[in-house]
This record gives sequence, structure tokens and C-alpha cells, in this order.
Amino acid sequence: MKNIYKPFKVEIVKIEEHSSDVKLFRLQKEKGHFSVNDQGIVFNPGQFVLVSNFGYGEAPFGIASSPFEARYVDILVRRAGCLTKALHQLKKGDQLFLRGPYGNGFPIDFMSGKDVIMVTGGCGIPPMAALTEYIIEKKWKFGRVYLIYGARTPADLLMKDNLEKWDKDIKVILTVDQPDKNWKGHVGMVSKIVKEIKVDPLDAVAAMCGPGPMMDALEYILRPLGVSDRRIFVNMERKMQCGVGKCQHCTVGDKFVCQDGPVFNFDEIDKAWD
Ligand SMILES: Cc1cc2nc3c(=O)[nH]c(=O)nc-3n(C[C@H](O)[C@H](O)[C@H](O)COP(=O)(O)OP(=O)(O)OC[C@H]3O[C@@H](n4cnc5c(N)ncnc54)[C@H](O)[C@@H]3O)c2cc1C
Ligand code: FES
Repeated sequence: MKNIYKPFKVEIVKIEEHSSDVKLFRLQKEKGHFSVNDQGIVFNPGQFVLVSNFGYGEAPFGIASSPFEARYVDILVRRAGCLTKALHQLKKGDQLFLRGPYGNGFPIDFMSGKDVIMVTGGCGIPPMAALTEYIIEKKWKFGRVYLIYGARTPADLLMKDNLEKWDKDIKVILTVDQPDKNWKGHVGMVSKIVKEIKVDPLDAVAAMCGPGPMMDALEYILRPLGVSDRRIFVNMERKMQCGVGKCQHCTVGDKFVCQDGPVFNFDEIDKAWD
């Protein structure tokens, strides 16, 4: 019988410092490549992996690399507590254990053929990065695509090289709360920028991931834009243990975030929202 909890070994082949408290880790399987699913991708954008560091425990992280990339997965780790501090001490060549990919991810088939508004803030960029890579690879399938990304300061914006690259194919709009003297982008909340987006709400979908207050604010902006609740997809974060619908650590209402999510539409999640 297959052991659903059994992780496999991965090696850290690259580490990048993306901000004062966030590092990117590129993880490669010890043997062979990551397997591709029946959609021809390694994972659905929005899915996550459980990463364990022996002696420190295990935690979920969104996958930030392209779903078409089978040689490695990238994760972005914000230094928060015991495990993530230990991860930040690791060096290239060190080994970790990984399970997954888990969860549902964004409904890419439903999103096809539509305008897409992606909205994120802070450390919420990984699932949007994977979704952006997917959309760019299958560009002919999508309408107008926006990525609106907000951070506290310019130094807190993650994946800066990717943001520049993506802007050639989709519209990337950056905003910060506290600009420095070199900042040429927007200033203020992501929610302020969303109001300026011009899409046909009947033909658009929204994908969101970010800090709680931003998500709450967006609820009152995307809805007035006319995008219906069933077309607003939210990537939720909850504390997890098993990752596979067994331990009940991640429940929101009657949903398991690890298995029914982490992506939900507002229609499903609104009543359980906290
Ligand atoms: C589906 C999913 C995807 C995630 N993706 C990423 C990612 O891409 N990058 C990233 O840096 N982190 C991500 N996280 C959060 C990450 O798993 C936690 O930061 C990590 O578990 C913290 O472990 P720790 O032992 O270092 O900190 P702990 O000692 O466990 O906690 C430190 C602090 O962080 C808070 N915290 C811990 N876990 C969470 C959580 N899930 N949500 C909100 N607050 C939390 C705790 O309450 C505490 O205040 C994700 C979480 C989920 C559920
Ligand atoms: S993390 Fe165990 S049920 Fe979701």
C-alpha cells in the first residue's frame, strides 16, 4: 500500500536572498525528475508542498516555479519561527525531505479564455508566480492578464527578476506603501490599483493570495467591479499537519484547506471567512 506520508529526498541546488527575511530555495530530486500529471504539468499552479528539515519539523510552502519545469521546484521561505529559521541557515548542497504536490490549485481550465486579474501582496507571490508562468506558456488561451503586486517597501518585493520578465507578456503593476527615492511605481494599497483595471467583469476571473486584511479589502473591490463571487479564487493559508485531509488541523467551516483547497472561490468560502 502506498504511504501517503512518505517524503522523498531533495537537494538544495540554489539559494537566493529575495528580501531581508525571504529566501528562495531551488529543490531538485535526489533521483530523476518530478513526474508530470495528465495535464502535462508537474503541479497545478496554487498547489503546495510539505517540506521537512530533520529535527525541526515540516511546513507547507506554495510552489513558485513554472509548472512545466520538471527538473526542480522553487519555494520562497519567509523567516517566521523554528523551522523557517533553520531553513534559512541551510547551504547549497544540503538535503531536505518533500511531500506533495498537495491541494487543488487554481481551476486553470475554467480560467482559460477569460481575462485574468491576479492580485497579491507580501509573501503571497509563489502561487501567483506559478500561475503567471502557466498563463504565459499558454498565452493564446487567455485574454488580458494583470498581475497586481503590493509590498511594504520596494526592498520587500520578491522575485524582482521574474516581475520584469513577466511584464513583457502580461501587465505587471507594482505598488508599495513606503516608496524610496528611486521608486517609479504606484504608492498605496493594492485595492486602490484594482479599481483602475479595465476588464469586462462578465468575462474575467480573479486570483488572489496575500495577507488577511488585503483579502478582506479586495472583497469589497472585486465585487463592485462586477466580478462574481464564483469567479474570485482565493488561495488560503491555514496551519497544517498531515496535508492530506486526515488530521483536521486546517478546517475552515466544513472544508479542509489542505484537500478541498487551498484555492476556494468566494461563493464557497464566504460564510466561513474569519
Ligand atoms: C498552503 C500554505 C502555503 C504556504 N506557503 C508559504 C510560502 O510560500 N512561503 C512561506 O514563507 N510560508 C508559506 N506558508 C506558511 C508557512 O508554512 C509557515 O510560515 C511555516 O509553517 C512556519 O513554520 P515555523 O516553524 O518557521 O514557524 P512557527 O513557529 O510555526 O510560527 C511562527 C509564526 O508564524 C505563524 N504561522 C505559522 N504558520 C502559519 C500559517 N500557515 N499561516 C499564518 N501564520 C502562520 C505562527 O502563528 C507564528 O506566529 C504557507 C502555509 C500554507 C498553509
Ligand atoms: S492538514 Fe490535516 S486535514 Fe488538512
